[in-house]
Amino acid sequence: MFGATLPRAHSGWLAVAAVVFSIACGGPPQDDARPATPTTPPTGGTVSEPAAPPPACANPMPEADVQSLQAAFEPHFRIGVAVSPFNFSDAASVELISQQFNHLSPENLLKWSSVHPEPGQYNFEFADQYVTFGEERDMTVYGHVLVWHQQVPAWVFRADVANEDSPDVSRDELLTRLTEHITTVAGRYGDRIEYWDVVNEAFNDDGSLRDTPWRRILGDDYIATVFQLADSLLPDSKLVYNDFSLASEPKRAGALAVLQDLKSRGIRIDAVGEQGHYNMNYPDVSQLDQMLQDFEELGVGVLLTELDVDVLPNAQGIQGADLDMIANYDKLYDPYRECLPETVDAKLAARWHALFAVLVDHADVIDAVTFWGVSDAQSWLNNWPVQGRTNYPLLFNRDLTAKSALANVIDAAGTQ
Ligand code: GLA
Repeated sequence: MFGATLPRAHSGWLAVAAVVFSIACGGPPQDDARPATPTTPPTGGTVSEPAAPPPACANPMPEADVQSLQAAFEPHFRIGVAVSPFNFSDAASVELISQQFNHLSPENLLKWSSVHPEPGQYNFEFADQYVTFGEERDMTVYGHVLVWHQQVPAWVFRADVANEDSPDVSRDELLTRLTEHITTVAGRYGDRIEYWDVVNEAFNDDGSLRDTPWRRILGDDYIATVFQLADSLLPDSKLVYNDFSLASEPKRAGALAVLQDLKSRGIRIDAVGEQGHYNMNYPDVSQLDQMLQDFEELGVGVLLTELDVDVLPNAQGIQGADLDMIANYDKLYDPYRECLPETVDAKLAARWHALFAVLVDHADVIDAVTFWGVSDAQSWLNNWPVQGRTNYPLLFNRDLTAKSALANVIDAAGTQ
């Protein structure tokens, strides 16, 4: 989603070059702050080793055994999915979404750069389809996102919108632009969109406030300012603060301090969204449990807004790679290109069960848990932090069959 996908036959060199390029360009910042996972390269052979026999591939669940997530979790919380315009016309994904999910998130299509790319130019075609699609299926419809430092056009922050070298816009004018944006986009749908991510990703890993153009221009108290504005413009939608890695203690502490301050000043904030871009190690279940306890104490609703589990080796440290590692790139960092081995599938299914067991324990504070994409084919994790890998972060395979993990997640609901 952050650039063109490399052809499937990419070489290791191309993939490494993509990482170096991404780092040189600053890379998508949402992951630079994700809790560090070990950067040591995974163990693997060298090119000269004899080829090992290929591992057995995992089988999907038999179609007759597939049950509905939304039905299984009905007593607990809604089960959501992030969609793209492709999903509205693809009959197979329409059927799957209708069967499995009762809450809808717009992945990219309500972001500023999609819906309002130029001053005065709004694109509502996909946004309208999105809201109607959810309503027709009696789903709760989610709004993502009003204030974020990514996927927002540069003109928004310029005094002279047409001049790339323009100094920053004034605080008052930025608030005017934001008011117009919220009124035109969110106001178009009113209570048809039940939740809005008002501010996304305002904190660094250590809990300090992230430097963004919003903060620079609106001031350090901008989260309060923006929530007050959203409250006045969107009385009928729930207002959410959304971020990743809130299960990580230092970051959560920073966020909680600001959110508590907002509440003590009487500023409306209805819920916290933990994105939930997880992997096989992070977070451990006690971190997730503690996060949910802390949110409950804060006295707001909770949503898991962008859940996925990255099963590939961590590729964030490979810019320091030596030549041998680069030669072995595919084997080390993209090891499941042919299929997900059944041994890994079993570990993944256990991981999903453990995560959902904690979520069910805290079901009384959770409004919805949303998967970040319909199937593995659509996941951003095939292209981040390295383009063109083959990842397996969701419950449905590329052909929309269910992974064995679906049964584990449904088992964790304890309702069957
Ligand atoms: C963040 C954003 C999402 C999406 C993901 C990557 O989590 O909130 O909208 O861009 O990054 O897919």
